[in-house]
Amino acid sequence: MRASAIAQPNIAVIKYWGKRDLARNLPAVGSISVTLSTLYTEMQVEIDTALAGDVLLVNAEENRSMLARVSDCVDIIAGIDRPAVRVSSKSNFPIAAGIASSASAFAALVVAAAAAFGLSIPRNRLAQLAGRASGSAARSMLGGFVELENDTDNIRVGSLLSAADWPLEILIAITAPGPKPVSSGDAMEISRRTSPFYDLWIEQQAADLAEARAAIRQRDLQRLGAIAEHNCLKMHSVMWGSRPPMIYWNSATIACMQTIRELQARGVAVFFTIDAGPQLKAICAAADVMTVRTALLATDGVLELMQSGIGEGARLVSA
Ligand code: PMV
Repeated sequence: MRASAIAQPNIAVIKYWGKRDLARNLPAVGSISVTLSTLYTEMQVEIDTALAGDVLLVNAEENRSMLARVSDCVDIIAGIDRPAVRVSSKSNFPIAAGIASSASAFAALVVAAAAAFGLSIPRNRLAQLAGRASGSAARSMLGGFVELENDTDNIRVGSLLSAADWPLEILIAITAPGPKPVSSGDAMEISRRTSPFYDLWIEQQAADLAEARAAIRQRDLQRLGAIAEHNCLKMHSVMWGSRPPMIYWNSATIACMQTIRELQARGVAVFFTIDAGPQLKAICAAADVMTVRTALLATDGVLELMQSGIGEGARLVSA
């Protein structure tokens, strides 16, 4: 009747931007991400027949704004005739600020909800169900380097390399902790409808995925960095070209980008990526992490730095 699960957020190196099926929340493109190890969301789902409706607590405070999405996700797992649930979520990082909090939240939620209702659902099916709530959540079902394949009528996730196979470090430079002004789901639709670059973005994704897959297979950080930065900046160009434009960056985001480019010019193997928020994520070899930390901490506007290795997929912690 009660189960808890943990999931880690993931950072895409080849991005998902755009939906091809709004009703089923299917992505228009495939994507590749790394699952983080130190940031987490823990979700507890408790069936409570005494409740009149579902209740959501986020970090011990009642939250109504996310309740509908959470209830819909539990419906997808357990059916709409299910009893009410109390869902409690705990995260050790800021939510809705472009650090993929919805990915870890919904990945943990599907695992916990399936266990609370006593359902045994294969992992790939759980990934598809998590993906209905948040496209990137499907990738947090697995650890290491994860590819989300955008099949004809559904999605499939697969692991390209485990965390132990290529132990990189990820630094997240927090430049503004607040929630983002436009949700990624809404922003993707604005891009699809209005950006003159949108079709080209979709068209080129297969080539970007193939290049990243090859770089990951060879564990070639420079090669992966080149395609990841290109793919990230192309996604933001789609947003900048939208009407209204969506500019998630601030001046510190750009300053961080310049810091990474200066490190690269000095021969440090590091690359950046930025999602639908103002935080910059730097990915580097473990041996270079202190150099990258020091440079980002000295960058104007960096409020805080989070660090993570590459971690595991969503898992049950108690049932
Ligand atoms: O899963 P969503 O709906 O929060 O969208 C994620 C979009 C990006 O983070 C910008 C890119 C990605 O692939 O994670």
